[in-house]
Amino acid sequence: MKKIQKLLKAQIKAQGPALALSVAIVLVAAVAANVLYRPKPMVKRGFEIVMASDGKVLEKKEEKPIDLATLMKAADVDRGAKVFKKCASCHTIGKGEASKVGPNLFGVVGRKKAAFAGFAYSDAMKAKGGSWDVESINTFVTKPKEFVPGTKMAFPGLKKPQDRADVILFLEKQK
Ligand code: HEC
Repeated sequence: MKKIQKLLKAQIKAQGPALALSVAIVLVAAVAANVLYRPKPMVKRGFEIVMASDGKVLEKKEEKPIDLATLMKAADVDRGAKVFKKCASCHTIGKGEASKVGPNLFGVVGRKKAAFAGFAYSDAMKAKGGSWDVESINTFVTKPKEFVPGTKMAFPGLKKPQDRADVILFLEKQK
């Protein structure tokens, strides 16, 4: 900041306050941009582009989507509890708690589909069959209406793969 002040003083002497002000704005913007756009560490996805020094694109390769097992390894139960807040408007998670708009989800990982006693499941869900495992919950929660057409679960889905892995890990722990 000392440097910036010096620079500003020099500017004020040389060109007057108007120019100094514009210089100050540029400097502040530069500092802010640096702070705002500092890249955050995250799981890579999307395209990887290999460029030559003259900016010519040499290679553009599409990355494979990260598989669920890898996402589950990186999953975090505390983050999952936060993600579950999106589900909690319709789902209880505590043992023995009554269902809300959706069935209680205590012990849902490994539970038969449409099996929470007393909950009025949709015919679509009742007809789905099988048990909920990590894969099927992941697919369901990505786009509920795609995995179970006709489901009563009015939820658009969790877009971020890591959010889904986190919430599944959280569900796994509630049993
Ligand atoms: C708007 C309310 C709503 C929200 C939000 C919601 N659900 Fe549901 N969920 C339902 C309903 C209703 C059902 C029953 C679906 C049916 O019978 O077709 C259901 C069913 C389920 C089932 C199947 C349970 C069983 O016993 O077979 C799972 C698993 C599930 N939800 C997980 C989630 C998760 C995880 C979230 C948050 C990411 C979530 N839901 C968000 C309403 C909701």
